Amino acid sequence: MYILGIETSCDETGVAIYHSDKGLIHHCLYSQIAMHNEYGGIVPELASRDHIRKLIPLIDECLQQSQLNKQDIAGIAYTAGPGLIGALLVGAATAKSLAWSWDIPAIGVHHMEGHLLAPMLEEQPPAFPFVALLVSGGHTLLVEVKSIGDYQLLGESLDDAAGEAFDKAAKLLGLAYPGGPLLSKLAQKGQANRFKFPRPMTDRPGLDFSFSGLKTFTMNTYHKTEKTEQDKADVARAFEQATAETLAIKCKRALKQTGLKRLVVAGGVSANTTIRQTLIAMADKQRAEVFFPRPEFCTDNGAMIAYAGCQRLLAEQTESLEINARPRWPINELL
Ligand code: KG4
Ligand code: ZN
Repeated sequence: MYILGIETSCDETGVAIYHSDKGLIHHCLYSQIAMHNEYGGIVPELASRDHIRKLIPLIDECLQQSQLNKQDIAGIAYTAGPGLIGALLVGAATAKSLAWSWDIPAIGVHHMEGHLLAPMLEEQPPAFPFVALLVSGGHTLLVEVKSIGDYQLLGESLDDAAGEAFDKAAKLLGLAYPGGPLLSKLAQKGQANRFKFPRPMTDRPGLDFSFSGLKTFTMNTYHKTEKTEQDKADVARAFEQATAETLAIKCKRALKQTGLKRLVVAGGVSANTTIRQTLIAMADKQRAEVFFPRPEFCTDNGAMIAYAGCQRLLAEQTESLEINARPRWPINELL
């Protein structure tokens, strides 16, 4: 069966069509980054309005590119939360209205479950069970995944998410929004080991994270320099290295604690090359396997939502026609 997936939780309008046997058929993405860039961050009201403008044309485009028409679609999956309430409601209202008029089911998907299952779209998907590190702009979570829907939260960030820390550190260095990828690019020109940054919360037991101190450390370190381009690059490199190593230390701990040998890393920050390399090196030493989505499915997209929704519809989960969105939705409340 063909499932249409809709993602509108933040600043990306994503649409995809996934087939339960054939896999991903097509996906389309429209990014609002250029629009929000002017304001140095996401303006929620502008995000909602832009999703309204772009969503239906993207659905049309995705159907056309897939050489399918609406009668072929058996169900619609949409991101029901967490995210920006206005943006979520655009996706929810569109999905429910189309489902009603096409007389097919619609299913709300948890955005982080979408990220978590994104590596399933790859040629060599991970087998269950595994430990998942989810690192996005809004969340940093370590989850033990026994099967689809069986998630146990092992640890989370007590303050800033990893992506948020990247974006804030980038802003301090004068980079545009969202700064994560730009900071990473700058770090490539940086000299290693000039600055020694802390590895927050690694000196005590537990699997929670804290990144806000790292952001303050970045600010203090940068303000003590001459603020040349090389200084910026060196600070960026130290920040990135500290984040990567902190994530690796916690993942190693999570693998040990659960006794599992498979690690899945997903969410926008998992596109980061240094973080990927650091986690691969850690996993090698632990004789564990590590799985990432392809870079375009690390950040927000419709394909992961179509995939997650398809699994839920195959499990015969359904919901009423009432339009609902959950801006806050802990992943361990998922069934
Ligand atoms: O998963 P995502 O697209 O959206 C949320 O669900 O939040 O993640 C976006 C976050 C942003 O904070 C962005 O700066 C960060 O992922 N990001 C990166 C990289 N690519 C995206 N951070 C570091 N390095 C990257 N290459
Ligand atoms: Zn996301």
